[in-house]
Amino acid sequence: VEDAVGSKDSASGLADSPFLRACRRRPVPYTPVWFMRQAGRSLPEYLRVREGVPMLEACARPDMIIEITLQPLRRYAVDAAIFFSDIVVPLRAVGVDLDIKPGVGPVVADPIRGPEQVAALRRLTPDDVPFVAEAVRGLVGELGATPLIGFAGGPFTLASYLIEGGPSKNHERTKAMMYGEPELWDRLLGRLADITIDYLKVQVEAGASAVQLFDSWVGAVGPQDYRASVLPYTRRVFQALERYGVPRIHFGVGTGELLGLMGEAGADVVGVDWRVPLDEAVHRVEPGKALQGNLDPALLFAPWEVVEARARDVLARGRTAEGHVFNLGHGVLPATDPDVLARLADLVHEASAS
Ligand code: CP3
Repeated sequence: VEDAVGSKDSASGLADSPFLRACRRRPVPYTPVWFMRQAGRSLPEYLRVREGVPMLEACARPDMIIEITLQPLRRYAVDAAIFFSDIVVPLRAVGVDLDIKPGVGPVVADPIRGPEQVAALRRLTPDDVPFVAEAVRGLVGELGATPLIGFAGGPFTLASYLIEGGPSKNHERTKAMMYGEPELWDRLLGRLADITIDYLKVQVEAGASAVQLFDSWVGAVGPQDYRASVLPYTRRVFQALERYGVPRIHFGVGTGELLGLMGEAGADVVGVDWRVPLDEAVHRVEPGKALQGNLDPALLFAPWEVVEARARDVLARGRTAEGHVFNLGHGVLPATDPDVLARLADLVHEASAS
């Protein structure tokens, strides 16, 4: 499989893309950049195509997925595309009754609280998500030498939505199960890891060049609990993808104390939010990992001079890493001016060109 992927990559020039090279800690002509949530509500053209189409319907239509994934690439000189979808799409595909409510996020009709509900969670087959493979294949054809990043939610974040039933500040029911019912927690997270493996395989086998695991809310747990109750499941996901040879990126928010463990879980690239400077993150992550990040997304609302100075600072600190992919420290905020992002992508390239 690795050989097949490798030869396909060299034919299209993908393997030489600065993004994939930086993920693999190889020399790059300039620092590659993409933005988490580069597609979506900050773009007027996104709001236009989404008009009257519910989020989960958009995520199930290859024409919409392809168009929305490509929209930011028409505006920004970004070095990678990220597949347009949501972390709850594979859960819905295996039959979980859930919706994405505008301004709220994922809402689950019958939150998972007991063993019967965990037992009812089935594995995912490619037939559950034909629109994903179709859209990935279409995108890879359109993108040529620009890599497509596939993604999935991380085990803690998915468990939190399923157990709480929606967005949560304190994750108290989730932690009640993690601390109080370790055997049930193990069954739930094991099943979520398997669904995630099934789902990421669909994306990689259809042609995605890298994957990012978004465990956005895992910063809610300390290192001891991360090691015991989250890392084993994340490791299972990353290990299952090993044979494809695609870079595996791991991101969470508020994970300063977890960065080393997130690397240990098997990521090739550790995503860093804006709270830990990259030259400090270098010391928290074991050698042999690239870093991704980490401009504060709220900084884009400050005057350009401030944005420019901070972006240069991120690049300088990123130079201490074995590989650096420039990104924001979390997703693009909906009110962000797209012109500032366009200027930022150009600045990253110009300021880092060797
Ligand atoms: O980065 C990209 O451009 C790809 C798109 C993407 C979406 N969701 C589209 C989306 C990605 C990578 C995600 C992942 C996701 N979804 C995460 C992990 C990333 C992160 O930001 O931490 C999480 C936690 C979710 C759950 C979720 N889905 C939230 C919190 C929300 C926002 C709710 C709101 O309206 O404030 C969603 C909905 C969602 N996912 C939207 C988009 C574009 C907004 C839906 C809309 O346009 O109405």
